[in-house]
Amino acid sequence: MNQVYEKVVKCYESIKDRIPFKPKVALVLGSGLGNYADTMDVKAEIDYSAIEQFPVSTVPGHAGKFIFGYVKDVPVVCMKGRVHYYEGYPISDVVLPTRLMKMMGAEILFLTNASGGINPSYGAGSFMLIRDHISCFAPNPLIGENIEEFGCRFPDMSTVYDRELQSVIRKTAKECDIPLAEGIYAQLTGPSFESPAEIKMLRILGADAVGMSTVVEAIAANHMGMKICGISCVANLAAGMTDQPLTHEEVQEASNKAAPLFRQLVTESIASF
Ligand code: HPA
Repeated sequence: MNQVYEKVVKCYESIKDRIPFKPKVALVLGSGLGNYADTMDVKAEIDYSAIEQFPVSTVPGHAGKFIFGYVKDVPVVCMKGRVHYYEGYPISDVVLPTRLMKMMGAEILFLTNASGGINPSYGAGSFMLIRDHISCFAPNPLIGENIEEFGCRFPDMSTVYDRELQSVIRKTAKECDIPLAEGIYAQLTGPSFESPAEIKMLRILGADAVGMSTVVEAIAANHMGMKICGISCVANLAAGMTDQPLTHEEVQEASNKAAPLFRQLVTESIASF
């Protein structure tokens, strides 16, 4: 058996008896949404550290567990904390949790993150519906022997972010009176923030927001045929767009401030999926 596949299966086997239901939605909580589970009807939790060989995040504020619960009537598995490529894990480990949630039965992957705004019309605290993405320098997680159990060798990427889910989120934002921009998210590896010249490059390439996650997870989920959607919380203007240096604390503070509206948008969207 393929070693990468075998590892996901082993993780699944080690926790399957603790999974309370077949989740419909797999929700990845980005910075600021960490306490999202407080609003859920929680049925079970599994610490990442309790899953053998599971990659555990080393970033302060990203400590992790799977939380299983209902959002309205929808069974959801949440990832509180994700691992990033910059932590030094192989890319197959970075997408292992995504693959594991598909193995649990999740059909929809809802990705959230914090980002730096490149589009000059965005301010700190803006929300951006991810319409498409650009992968920049992070390795493709499908490199290596293809895992047929997950999907085909050359997956189509024409519509990674599901159009129907996008329209549900768009409609929900309107109904909740939450301003929602739409755009292209670029993933760089981090952990350093970008240089102003890199931000200029990304703007020329067509990116509206930049971060250090999400794209590799979307590529792995698309490979497995999941329906994918994503919302980015623009925590700061990207490097060079203001005179201020960027700090992780500033990103967390802005994400926390935007959290109540973000939570509402995520909850009402999931209820309508
Ligand atoms: N760059 C990369 N990742 C980020 C940023 C940024 O400016 N803000 C939040 N995550």
